[in-house]
Formats: sequence, C-alpha cells, structure tokens
Amino acid sequence: MNTFDFIELEKRRQQNNIELIASENFVSENVMRAVGSCLTNKYAEGYPTDRYSGNKGRYYGGCEIVNGLEEYCCAKWREVFSTDYHVNVQPHAGSSANLAAYMSVLTPGDTILSMDLNNGGHLTHGSSVNFSGKLFNMVFYSVTPEGYIDYDDIEKKAAENKPKLILAGASAYSRIIDFERIGTIAKSCGAYFMVDMAHIAGLIAAGEHPSPFGIADIITTTTHKTLRGTRGGLIFCRPELAKKVDSAIFPGTQGGPLMHIIAGKAVTAEEACTPEFKEYIRQVVKNTKAMCDEFIKLGYDIVTGGTDNHLFLVDLTRTHPDLSGKDVQNELDRHGITLNKNCVPGEKRSPAKASGVRIGCAAMTTKGWKEEDAIQCARKIDEIIAGMEKELRRK
Ligand SMILES: Cc1ncc(COP(=O)(O)O)c(C=O)c1O
Repeated sequence: MNTFDFIELEKRRQQNNIELIASENFVSENVMRAVGSCLTNKYAEGYPTDRYSGNKGRYYGGCEIVNGLEEYCCAKWREVFSTDYHVNVQPHAGSSANLAAYMSVLTPGDTILSMDLNNGGHLTHGSSVNFSGKLFNMVFYSVTPEGYIDYDDIEKKAAENKPKLILAGASAYSRIIDFERIGTIAKSCGAYFMVDMAHIAGLIAAGEHPSPFGIADIITTTTHKTLRGTRGGLIFCRPELAKKVDSAIFPGTQGGPLMHIIAGKAVTAEEACTPEFKEYIRQVVKNTKAMCDEFIKLGYDIVTGGTDNHLFLVDLTRTHPDLSGKDVQNELDRHGITLNKNCVPGEKRSPAKASGVRIGCAAMTTKGWKEEDAIQCARKIDEIIAGMEKELRRK
C-alpha cells in the first residue's frame, strides 16, 4: 500500500457511504484543483496591503500574484455575506481562527461566557482540555431542559461575571440562534460579542439563518461545513479591530499562510455567491426537516423537538436506554452509514459514549438527496436500531 492506494480507498468509502456527519461535505472539482495547485509551493508570510489594517507587505519576494489572489479572496468573502467587515482569510482551521480571535481582544486570564461542549459548544469554546479552557476563565451558559439556549441564563451570568467576551455559536445546536438578544446582553455588560458561525455559515450566506453581521464584533467560521469549501478558517471583524485580528493571526499564532488553501477559499466564496448555492442550502434545510420529522413519526425524541438548520440530535435516553450513541454509531458504520455520537441535555453518560447521535444532511444534499431520500434513510436507521434492540433482548 502506498499513499495513493489509501487515497483511492478513502475515495471509494466516500462514494459508497451515506455521510451524515453534520460538519462534513463534498467539495467541487474546482476546489480540489485549487487546493492541489502549485500555490502550495509559495511562502508569503505577512499580508498584502489592506484597506482597513494598513498592514503592508510580505516577508518574501515573488508575492505579486498571491497578493492579488488574497485580496480577491477577501473581497469575495465580503460579497458572500454582503458585509464591509474586515476579513482575514489566513486561519488554517476553525480552531486557529478562534485562538486568534480570542488573542486579538483578550489577555490570558480574562473571562469568556460561552456554551459548553456537553450542551453543543465546541472544544475551542472553553473545554478544559483545550487551549481555550487552559488560557481563559470560562463561564458557561446552559440550555433549557428541552435543549434550547437559555437566554435568561446568559443575561444572569453576564451580569454576575462581567465577561470580557460573550461567545455564540455551536457544533451541535439545531435551532436559530438569537444573535440580536445575545448582542444586546454583551453591550449591556461591556463585553465583546463574538460569533463562531462555523456550522451555520452556509445558511447565513444563503439567507436561511439570521446574520450576525452588524451585531457581532468578531465572527469566525470554517469554510468546509455548510459552506462546502476547502478545509480552513476565516475571521471577520469590525474594521476598528482589523489590526488586532490580523496581528493575532500573523505573527501572533501562525506563520506563512497556505496560499493553495486561500485559492480554495476563493473558489468556495465564488461558489457561495451563486444562486445554485442558495438553492442547495434551501434543499439542505428541507431534507434535514423531512428526516427529523420522520424520526419523530417513528417515535424518537429529538432535542428541542425539531430543527431549523442542517442538523438535529436524536436523544436515545427514553426510547433506547440500553443503547449508547457510540453503540449506534458503530452499528451504523457497519451498514455504511456514517454519523457521530453526541451528548444530549442532562447527559448521564460520558462524552465518549453519549446518549444521542447527531445527524446532518449537508453532505448528502450535495450528492443529490431530496426529502424522500432523507425519509428513507431515517427508516433504514430505525430498522438497524430495532435490530440492535432485538439482539440485546436475545442476550
Ligand atoms: C463551532 C465550531 N467551531 C470551530 C470548529 C473547529 O474547526 P476545525 O476543526 O477546522 O479546527 C468546529 C469544528 O467542528 C466547530 O463546530
């Protein structure tokens, strides 16, 4: 086996499996071309001149072409979100974007108010095993017993703890996030308001989720989930924070930008500006709702009782108390259906086992799914889970 044998095997796995991991997608041939291009050879530490930050220059010669590319990429991303916020397209990933976003306006030891991992937040939102939890004083807001963000709790904890930054955004939250409300709370306690829109960025670009632009001070995202692009991160910020954000990326937390990935991000932005992308996102939302409704019809508990976006969480606690999320994930893997286990509100199991699964339809919608395909898949998963129950009773 050599490298290309592994790539071929993975290609076949991706072609044959049903992919329900909410953070994955399939990129276009053009994104592949850009990220596999000669731009991988170019070092370009620094920035092209930027209209907001005034940052000038690279630390290497031969950058005249990549300067144009990076400026074009920035302009395209402003177009995607119809914004005049400053954008930095250099973060290597969502996690690097979040690290730099924090470092741009905070000092280690400052307080951040966010949603914790068990309730749907991300590792970089303050988990104790992550840099965020190690560097900052984290306070977490909760979700209601039904799984909705508890906005009253945000208000209370903001007043009590006077955080320097309030963070909205999640990895496993199926409802609209009220950015207006959290932004007002942040203003009332003098905190920066940051939104990590990694999961829902495609929906925001297509107008299927309210936008945080004009409300948040700093907005981070990945480009590879619902935006359906190359792997990577972006940071948007109010123009007055541009210099702080740019220097938090370089030289603060990264070295040379990945110019082939920046080319991939530019293609991603071009695609996200098209009417076809908006239509794709509308279909993602329809498919996810159809699949979620089918699970409800089949008797399953869904966290919050439904979905407004590209994902939902099945809570197995009441209906299948003897099956963990991990058991279901493993059994579905054997049937060529890929998803991930997920904690549910009031979780009793460890995150390694969990009592729920997270299901997303962004990737399968790219493969052409319509509502009926999503419904059939829900029935198939139900059949497999019923088989697992039968097996348990036989033991
Ligand atoms: C909300 C959120 N933020 C940040 C990230 C981190 O992105 P990356 O894996 O590119 O570091 C993720 C990844 O799943 C995420 O869900």
